[in-house]
Amino acid sequence: MTTLEPRTLEPEATAAEAPVVAGNDRMRVDAPAKVTGTAPYAYEQPVEDPAHLFPIVSTIARGRITDIDDAAARELPGVRLVLTHANAPRIRVHTDAALVILQSSEVHHRGEIAGAVVADSPQVAREAAGLVRVTYDEQPAELGFAIDDPRATEPRRVNAFKHGSYERGDADACLARGTLVEADYSLPMEFHSPIEPHAVTAIWHDASALDPRATRLTLYDTNQGTGGHALLLAPALGLLPGQLEVVSPYVGGSFGTKGWPHPHLVLVAMAAKLLGGRPVKYAMTRQQMFRTVGHRPASKQRIRLSVEADGRLLALDHQSWAPTARLKSYVDQTVSATRMMYDVADLRTVHHAVVQDAAPGSFMRAPGEFTGMFALETALDEAAHAVGVDPIELRLRNEPGKDPENGKPWSTRNLVACLREGAEQFGWSQRRPVGTQRDGEWLVGLGVAAATYPNQYFVPSRAGIRFTDGRYTVELQAGDIGTGAWTILPQIAADALDVPVDLVDAEIGRTGLPWAIPAGGSVGTFTWGDAIVAAAAKFRRKHGEAPPEGAHETAAGRMPRGSRGYSRHAFGAHFVQARVSTVTGEVRVDRMLGVFAAGRIINPRTARSQLIGGMTMGLSAALHEEAHLDERFGHVVNGDLAGYHVAAHADVGDLEAICLEEHDPWFGATGAKGIGELGVVGVPAAIGNALFNASGVRLRDLPFTPDRLFAAWG
Ligand code: MOS
Repeated sequence: MTTLEPRTLEPEATAAEAPVVAGNDRMRVDAPAKVTGTAPYAYEQPVEDPAHLFPIVSTIARGRITDIDDAAARELPGVRLVLTHANAPRIRVHTDAALVILQSSEVHHRGEIAGAVVADSPQVAREAAGLVRVTYDEQPAELGFAIDDPRATEPRRVNAFKHGSYERGDADACLARGTLVEADYSLPMEFHSPIEPHAVTAIWHDASALDPRATRLTLYDTNQGTGGHALLLAPALGLLPGQLEVVSPYVGGSFGTKGWPHPHLVLVAMAAKLLGGRPVKYAMTRQQMFRTVGHRPASKQRIRLSVEADGRLLALDHQSWAPTARLKSYVDQTVSATRMMYDVADLRTVHHAVVQDAAPGSFMRAPGEFTGMFALETALDEAAHAVGVDPIELRLRNEPGKDPENGKPWSTRNLVACLREGAEQFGWSQRRPVGTQRDGEWLVGLGVAAATYPNQYFVPSRAGIRFTDGRYTVELQAGDIGTGAWTILPQIAADALDVPVDLVDAEIGRTGLPWAIPAGGSVGTFTWGDAIVAAAAKFRRKHGEAPPEGAHETAAGRMPRGSRGYSRHAFGAHFVQARVSTVTGEVRVDRMLGVFAAGRIINPRTARSQLIGGMTMGLSAALHEEAHLDERFGHVVNGDLAGYHVAAHADVGDLEAICLEEHDPWFGATGAKGIGELGVVGVPAAIGNALFNASGVRLRDLPFTPDRLFAAWG
């Protein structure tokens, strides 16, 4: 890690606690359990005599179920239950429209849960589900969307961050005098595709108790935050929050799909309730992972850009069109990063959404920023080429001194340092004019793009510190989705308690522990860390340096006072060397460097893993990932890992990430920002820009496949 002289900012009122100085390399503490197969994942939780569930799903996109014939299924030996809307428990409290399953005969999208079979073995459950005959009254479905779609409306909400349209200055007037770039960009529907599918084991305790308050449910699930899941699921299941225990200690990847409860959890809980106490297990097939657990919605965007001859941006219009489900609205904040990235006076950004009879989309790693920054960072490269200014220089000329959207000062913004450091380390000065570097059949080029991700301190978390047998335990609901929370939370606690890290254990991943925000939106480390520092301070205040056996304190973190006065984002820059075969049209990425400024890095090892993981995911999106929704029938045609290729080792060349360390006091006591999503943002643009430098072909539609290359080549 190189060290950047941090820009010091004195918080108006600092927390009493000293800043945490964790920053040392530490091996993953959960690695031995995982590689030896002893870490219990949701499906593997040992329970007595479980039954197994397999869902029945709709085969039409819109309409009504008129009949379900389950006679053949019921006759199969080992079948214990056929669950449909005819016998499902009633859902009285609606927390999320997609969780309200089996309450009517209506069908909202193809692949929607229409029921389930529960049997003594997973094989029998699956065979029996295939024997259930469902008859429909089918209605015409709306599927497909386009730029300038006449059915489009402006959504009221775009995911969690920013809203609707935004305008400053007068983009129309300025663009009317002439545009330099006017282009459309598109990204396909993508799926999170974690290696561990969704899986759950459900057990009702005292399911048949006369007093409904005597009953309890345990869900061994795989998710990003147990508390958030309990909050949304308990009401749907007729439970008070204290009656639902959610356990999720180990998670085999998520990328957003496990950040929000999906309908199968209600299905499994219903089935287990009707079985009266026998545990029920369900693990999704890979094909089912392409149906009811969210996806990154497809995107079509239009950018119009007016630029001075010296590369300064004059006006920018960035509009986004996206599908949203009739059942439940979800729209990415696709154009939000465009509002704050560069110093452009006349700007308009608009989100448009088109209602579809398809499964709801959901947040997927850097939802919106990933999508919008592909278009923006490609358009900037187009502008740089058109005016003959180096693309790094063009970005430097448009660097805003404060956030142009709201006029707030940056908490820290070191995009310029990332660009400069990366240029130096990557050998940017070796970049040649477009189409002039050949290596046999290959054309080779370099490209760059910026990365950013907003860091929101949404709400404080709570954490506990416990002292037993001479050791400390840090406890909170935090989830580790493969990111390193098991490893770094003890580092933060050890620092705050001023003890060696080997004396600190973690307990995370279940309700019953102090409430903490889920591992999403790249907010985990700094929000949880802030709570841990507060709990450690309270612990020391109450119990001193020699605490009594069993000493235990909990405390909430606190957003630094005055932090709302600052614009808080992490930044980075991606550098890519790519090559394209003039024979096959294949694109390969030889080497890629990401330089990031994301606050205090708590553990360089797990941080690097997050960042190169994000970069790999960006490469995968740039070159491979593309789900095809059949607009006649509403299903994903290539919904498995044979048809939907996720980058494997052979697809990835030399990859490195470095951090310019900042200490940002406006994110709480650790000075850390978020790194989970930053690494993926901008990667496809950097690859596309390298491809243009190599070949002179500008591709604006992901992924960059040979057919698209040859079509553009003419
Ligand atoms: Mo996420 S896409 O941070 O759950």
